[in-house]
Amino acid sequence: MSLPKIIAIDGPAASGKSTLGQKLAKDLGYLFFDTGVMYRAVTWAALNYQLALDDSMAMTTLAESIQIDVRPPSHEDGRQYDVLVDGQDVTWEIRRPEVDANVSVISAYPGVRAAMTAQQRRVGLRGDVVMVGRDIGTVVLPEADLKLYLDASAEERARRRHHEVVGRGQPSDYEAILASMRERDRIDSTRAVAPLRPADNAVILDSDTLDAEQVLAKVQEIVSDCCETEISP
Ligand code: DC
Repeated sequence: MSLPKIIAIDGPAASGKSTLGQKLAKDLGYLFFDTGVMYRAVTWAALNYQLALDDSMAMTTLAESIQIDVRPPSHEDGRQYDVLVDGQDVTWEIRRPEVDANVSVISAYPGVRAAMTAQQRRVGLRGDVVMVGRDIGTVVLPEADLKLYLDASAEERARRRHHEVVGRGQPSDYEAILASMRERDRIDSTRAVAPLRPADNAVILDSDTLDAEQVLAKVQEIVSDCCETEISP
């Protein structure tokens, strides 16, 4: 039996991709790579440097020039990793509502996507990786050995995000989160380049009725069946 060397997990915001991806990567001893962090980092930098977010050329130049690093966690404050932009720790800053509200627009610019996709592909092709995003199975790593698409209703995803924010002791408004989630879904799935959609050969999982442990159990089964059948006569 052989295990899938490259695992792609796509799906909408807060569908549980990161939780699943982290656990799966830990189980397999693989690298976990959350590509959303990169688009968030570009968006944070654009806001921080007060650039015009509607200037696609400026956003592309920014994406091509900033240094985004993801490293092992330096603080025990609930983070899974540190995210640095040009050396500055922005791990929590990139989760702020201003970033949530603008990241879909920034990530729709073809030049921004080209810059991010090239970096993601370079890491992914080394293998032993669980890569999470919107277009991993369709564009970044179409050669992935296993493609998963994790879905859930907008209401359930907004509820989860609301609990996360409250859990961090920050103020949160469920209705505002739901509206922002729907707007991001709309932009992510209708953009011209690399829209959010399941790859043709993706396994689609609905996490509305499954908790994180149940999703992981299902995926572990899929992983162990995945490549065995391919190499059997
Ligand atoms: O997974 P997330 O919520 O952190 O992603 C933030 C945004 O980045 C999301 O609205 C869409 C974009 N994104 C993308 O376009 N392609 C990816 N591979 C990952 C994220």
